[in-house]
Amino acid sequence: MHLEINNLSKQFDTRQGPVVALDDINMHVETGEFVCVVGASGSGKSTLLRLVAGLDMPTAGEITVDGQVVTGPGSDRGMIFQSYTLYPWMTVQKNVEFGLKLQGVGPRERREMASYYLDVVGLTKFARSLPKQLSGGMKQRVAIARTLASRPKIMLMDEPFGALDVQTKETMQQFMLDLWNRTGVSILMITHDVDEAVFLSQRIYVLTAHPGTIQREVFVDLPSDRTYTIRRDRTFQDYREGIMDLLRGKAAPALVS
Ligand SMILES: Nc1ncnc2c1ncn2[C@@H]1O[C@H](COP(=O)(O)OP(=O)(O)OP(=O)(O)O)[C@@H](O)[C@H]1O
Ligand SMILES: [Mg+2]
Repeated sequence: MHLEINNLSKQFDTRQGPVVALDDINMHVETGEFVCVVGASGSGKSTLLRLVAGLDMPTAGEITVDGQVVTGPGSDRGMIFQSYTLYPWMTVQKNVEFGLKLQGVGPRERREMASYYLDVVGLTKFARSLPKQLSGGMKQRVAIARTLASRPKIMLMDEPFGALDVQTKETMQQFMLDLWNRTGVSILMITHDVDEAVFLSQRIYVLTAHPGTIQREVFVDLPSDRTYTIRRDRTFQDYREGIMDLLRGKAAPALVS
């Protein structure tokens, strides 16, 4: 898998005049990478992910997945949103099966794949539950199982843990990191939470706001099997402080890169 974004710009024409949301963005994600994009509110993060997902079209530039230009949504890119997008009237199992059904996978294979991915996210016991019977973190795990089940080349996540309380968020971050280590899935995740980005990713693109441009690419040189205690490490804190300084518009002496 090779995701490439070349000279990407996006302008919205509003009643108040044109808004340049993204300006000349260049980035890439390779097979098995966990890449985060961080930026302040309004830096164009969601716009960027929507463009990669094919939900909106760029004003200039191009996005390719394995050389194929993105012209719309596709099952090669699996999207996870902040709000839970489960069908409330379907069981957890049926929710996971749904995307497979759309892809034309037969009933038996569908059931097996859904069961497999529910096991991957640790929700086998809740297969027959309805979404309303689950906590926020569990609902997000169902959404992740559903996306994994359609076996995308890359998972796109827009602030997936933004709506969760602090403890659940930490649990989900650890879950996501373990899942990534176990499955080797490629992930492009958007977040405004610098701590989350440093904890999860191998590479971070830091955006400026108004317009959104890439300010810096940071390589996070920390072990891949991280646990919450790593937040106490000096190196972790240096990355976090350095990126915060960049977002504040300051030089970033603490940044190791
Ligand atoms: N459909 C739209 N029409 C007009 N302007 C838009 C549209 N979508 C986004 N924008 C503008 O583009 C800019 C970037 O918005 P975007 O939602 O991508 O930012 P964000 O980084 O995701 O912010 P947040 O952290 O608050 O989610 C903002 O100035 C926003 O007002
Ligand atoms: Mg957003």
